Amino acid sequence: MNRNVSTPFKGAALAVTAVLFGAAALAQGFAPAEPSNGKAAFDRWCAECHAAGIGHPGTQQLERIRGDKLSLLETRKDLEPAYIRYIVRHGQNAMPAYRPSEISDANLELIANYIGRKPVPAKKQR
Ligand code: HEC
Repeated sequence: MNRNVSTPFKGAALAVTAVLFGAAALAQGFAPAEPSNGKAAFDRWCAECHAAGIGHPGTQQLERIRGDKLSLLETRKDLEPAYIRYIVRHGQNAMPAYRPSEISDANLELIANYIGRKPVPAKKQR
């Protein structure tokens, strides 16, 4: 009785699969797809620290310095897009700065418009 007779073949098959998968990943350059909107871009670069709940240092630090109501970037209405762009490019205390090679201007624009204060629509002239 030898139930393990096929094990080396399984191992070889797994190795071949791993190599093929690696080659496919290399061919794609490991580049994840570009985010298509502000929420997707926020989720990719900011949510790790600014999502809700414990374990998100951005949210927790903002709760300490700004209070509960201003701790979550996604629900704030007071942040100017220009201020958000500045913080992202320059960093602030525990928050790192991001270069355009990491977050492009276009993606930063998506994020700033997503969490930033929306312009007040002009009143209609009578
Ligand atoms: C590694 C964690 C981390 C990441 C990733 C991160 N932040 Fe932060 N962020 C922080 C921390 C911590 C603070 C609080 C800084 C302080 O102590 O002043 C902060 C503060 C901010 C502030 C200032 C808010 C205020 O009330 O003044 C803005 C705006 C901000 N982050 C935007 C972003 C955006 C947009 C992204 C994604 C592009 C991002 N952050 C990614 C950790 C992070």
